[in-house]
Amino acid sequence: MITTTGLTKVYSSRGRDVTALDGVDLHVREGEVFGVIGQSGAGKSSLIRCVNLLERPTSGTVTVDGRDLTALAGRGRRAPKDLREARTRIGMVFQHFNLLSSRTVKDNVELPLEILGVSGAERSRKALELLDLVGLADKARAYPGQLSGGQKQRVGIARALAGDPKVLLSDEATSALDPETTRSILQLLRDLNRQLGLTVLLITHEMDVVKTVCDSAALMRKGRIIESGTVSELLATPGSELAHELFPVSGDATGPDRTVVDVTFHGEAATQPVISQLSRTYNIDISILGAAMDTVGGRQIGRMRIELPGRYEENVVPIGFLREQGLQVDVAGDPAAAAVPAQGPALAEEVAK
Ligand SMILES: Nc1ncnc2c1ncn2[C@@H]1O[C@H](COP(=O)(O)OP(=O)(O)OP(=O)(O)O)[C@@H](O)[C@H]1O
Ligand SMILES: [Mg+2]
Repeated sequence: MITTTGLTKVYSSRGRDVTALDGVDLHVREGEVFGVIGQSGAGKSSLIRCVNLLERPTSGTVTVDGRDLTALAGRGRRAPKDLREARTRIGMVFQHFNLLSSRTVKDNVELPLEILGVSGAERSRKALELLDLVGLADKARAYPGQLSGGQKQRVGIARALAGDPKVLLSDEATSALDPETTRSILQLLRDLNRQLGLTVLLITHEMDVVKTVCDSAALMRKGRIIESGTVSELLATPGSELAHELFPVSGDATGPDRTVVDVTFHGEAATQPVISQLSRTYNIDISILGAAMDTVGGRQIGRMRIELPGRYEENVVPIGFLREQGLQVDVAGDPAAAAVPAQGPALAEEVAK
């Protein structure tokens, strides 16, 4: 639904060039909620502004719903008609709501429809329908100043939906809100995604947001995408930074010459019997340093950090045993070990002998 290829944005200000986007290839599938996460200055807002061509990319292409927006952009300052039309199919939600304080809630929602030249009666009907959709039917005649932050953001979302967009872009839509309100706005975005089949690209720097609503996520750093994938793919990727952030487990090794291993399991699979089997089979003492269960992307996931006696080289076979049980195993602090691929059936036969 949204594809960028080699997207680059260089800002020139006071004779200095700042590369905000450095060859970003992004692919957001139709109907998914895609979260982009990264530290301040990573280029997240630049990315979203380039996706709807509010910012002209320096190079690269942006395709939304099969239309190459970069090709529509033209050269002048003012966006050509084709691009303005294409943009009405892309809704945008802002951190600070950007509502007009002198207009009622309903008139704020009608604004994009006015610009599209929709007739008065039709505008009114559509605005009331949208306000109902976001749970604000009773606030149509109120002014933004009379609303809470969460209610203002609901108006912002209703306005973003006015042009019947297929795509909704959201830049930190919840970061000005308290945690409770954040949850309700995220739930609303999720519901709209499901009800309307809306594709949502959201920017956040909160991992919790990704955990609660996203199907897929990407991590940005210094204008590049470092990792991306569906949340379950990420969680199944050894050494994934995002997975670690999504689901941290803590606990330090109790001494030198110990191997610390993070074991991740999905759904019903319980680690407990596996750990005791491991202990019995290899006659080793295993310490549990930390453990947690959580719901990520709507799925139950568990993670446990365990410690085995001896260095990694001495634990290759027990670690293989864990992988054999279908568990995802990350060996802490050892990139070489983490890169060892899951062992195939050959190892199971070895172990069985
Ligand atoms: N209009 C601009 N002119 C010059 N430099 C800019 C401009 N907009 C952004 N930048 C620079 O581009 C880089 C990326 O900025 P961007 O706003 O995309 O980051 P961000 O990931 O959204 O950060 P934040 O989490 O703080 O919102 C930063 O170094 C920023 O200073
Ligand atoms: Mg930003």
